[in-house]
Amino acid sequence: MTDLNAAFALNGPEDCARLYAAWAASYDAEFAAEMDYRLPAHVAAAFLAHGGSGPVLDVGAGTGLLAGHLRNMGFAGAIDAVDLSVDMLDSARAKGLYRHLHRADITRPLALTGPYSGVVSSGTFTHGHVGPEAIVQLERQAARGALFAVSINEGVYRSMGFDAALSERPGVTFLDVQIYGPAAAAKDPDHAAQRGLIAIWRHGVHDGAAG
Ligand SMILES: C[S@@+](CC[C@H](N)C(=O)[O-])C[C@H]1O[C@@H](n2cnc3c(N)ncnc32)[C@H](O)[C@@H]1O
Repeated sequence: MTDLNAAFALNGPEDCARLYAAWAASYDAEFAAEMDYRLPAHVAAAFLAHGGSGPVLDVGAGTGLLAGHLRNMGFAGAIDAVDLSVDMLDSARAKGLYRHLHRADITRPLALTGPYSGVVSSGTFTHGHVGPEAIVQLERQAARGALFAVSINEGVYRSMGFDAALSERPGVTFLDVQIYGPAAAAKDPDHAAQRGLIAIWRHGVHDGAAG
């Protein structure tokens, strides 16, 4: 099993593609199930609770866990995936959850099938992964008023500059959630207690309302 220490030490797109190529086949059954990985469900619930609608872009979609939770919670709109890893996207494609799947680096200019009314993400803004520079690229794919619900690992919130980037989005609110359930303590005690902040805002709306 690929471990979180390796994932958190990634250094650039090639490194990332290599790690996730090795991880894609076991990601759901070993990592997500054994760690009781709850972050995608938290993001899906936050998006819907704030009135999110489609079409939705799932950012760093991986194997499609977040889209699966959206569907299980009753969301019927279109969902597109974007991810750097072709192997993770292949796992996601097999689940039949997405309208379009895009292989792209979200830190660079994007040509996706938007504009999107919703942008969601779980687990992508974290150690060794993606910093706040991607937010501007994602906002360019979003309709005015699009609802963003994006998780940020608490450990990189300040160190990678998410605090400064998000302070420029009026009306942003945060949910502080546990990334893993109790089973994670036995599997990986070093990471089991990690928390995520789900940042929620509406793109281009300056009246202070996030939902
Ligand atoms: C920890 S996984 C999270 C996957 C899924 N959202 C979940 O919660 O299970 C992080 C994902 O981000 C993707 N990723 C990392 N850097 C990226 C980048 N620069 N552009 C697009 N995707 C990226 C990886 O390929 C991987 O699928």
